Amino acid sequence: MNASGPSQGSALLRSELDRRLPTVSHARGVFLWDSDGRRYLDAASGSIAAVLGHAHPKAIDALQAQAAKVSHVYRGSFTSEPTEELARMLVRRSPAPVQRVQFANSGSEAVEIAVKMAIQYWQERGRPEKWKVISRLHSYHGNTLGALSLSGHARRSRFEKLLHPFPMVKAPDPFDVTAVEDFERALLETGADSVAAIIVEPIVGASNPALVPPPGYHERLREICDAHDVLLIADEVMSGMHRSGTFLAMEESTVTADITTLGKGLGGGYVPLSAILVSERVVQGFERGSRKLETGGHTYAANPLATAVGVSVLEAIDEGDLGQNAVDRGQELLQGLARLEAAHPVVESARGRGLLCGLVLDDRLVSDAARELVDAAADVGLMIYLAGDGEINGVLVAPPLIVAAEHIQEIIVLLDAALSAIESR
Ligand SMILES: Cc1ncc(COP(=O)(O)O)c(C=O)c1O
Repeated sequence: MNASGPSQGSALLRSELDRRLPTVSHARGVFLWDSDGRRYLDAASGSIAAVLGHAHPKAIDALQAQAAKVSHVYRGSFTSEPTEELARMLVRRSPAPVQRVQFANSGSEAVEIAVKMAIQYWQERGRPEKWKVISRLHSYHGNTLGALSLSGHARRSRFEKLLHPFPMVKAPDPFDVTAVEDFERALLETGADSVAAIIVEPIVGASNPALVPPPGYHERLREICDAHDVLLIADEVMSGMHRSGTFLAMEESTVTADITTLGKGLGGGYVPLSAILVSERVVQGFERGSRKLETGGHTYAANPLATAVGVSVLEAIDEGDLGQNAVDRGQELLQGLARLEAAHPVVESARGRGLLCGLVLDDRLVSDAARELVDAAADVGLMIYLAGDGEINGVLVAPPLIVAAEHIQEIIVLLDAALSAIESR
């Protein structure tokens, strides 16, 4: 027995040491139950991953069937049917320039691989001096040191000394497209000759809840990238996989990124799985250059168990027409959130697209309003997702894509109660 360990209670070192969490017992569809029998409506899809909801039979079947065949191989020694099939499926549903796919496990890994690909692309083109990446304030691209370097998020503050000092521009203003010009200014200041890529979340998620850039923003961003020979990376780890209605949130514009990252919903919450979608232009850079990708990989990348689940997730999305459901239920959700904005002074704004919606909250009216709201919502049986970066604070409301109209109504009723609870404290 470990004399210094906990004699009873949890041996887990949680990020909030004093916070007690309920123990999840089981889950089905859009609902979770804890070990005390309390039911929660999961309007956060776990961590915005469970696009099919919980315990979806198709994902369970895929997991079981593939585990019985083969779960893991070294990706340098074998390819597999589900891995090849998932790559083909992702290429087929992506805009035309996407030609090849690589797999990883987490969103952070996918972002780091995307950045390395961009840097190697310019090396292949004889321009090794292009290695910097420009990103935005109030953004989140992941928790590893490379991805955190690109994230304008409070999580970076303690580790600042270890991060790359890449330039960052202002977050988009939802009502003013001219904010995008900051990218051009940053390129001129930094020297475009030293910049490999610009990375953006097409709909901002974790650090600036469900911020949708105004029409024309991505078109102008693409022009700026092209004018300065800079690649565009779209981080769709949260916004992709039909969450905003279309497969990629970027499809709302006429723009295609040179490299796109997917994560979260690709594994549906059943397995860790992420992907890097690579356009023809970038693939050609490698084909005409060294014909080798030096970006490295990860032990579990492209394991057949995960990719088989990924195939089942995409099939279930198509069979259930869940992209359309995200559009229809998303409209109801946003209308409901707008009613809450009108009724509750603590709500600064309601926004989003499809089933990636959120509320920005006013900390001057209720201190630490977002944290308070997440807790008050859990108290009434609703899971929502804490979002923001200390400066901009709020919550994401992003239920599974299988959500029904009656669930949307229930989400709004429960949120209304939770907002009233924090406002009356
Ligand atoms: C847009 C975006 N990129 C990357 C990540 C990092 O993904 P992961 O937590 O799987 O490493 C996240 C996670 O929230 C994200 O929202």
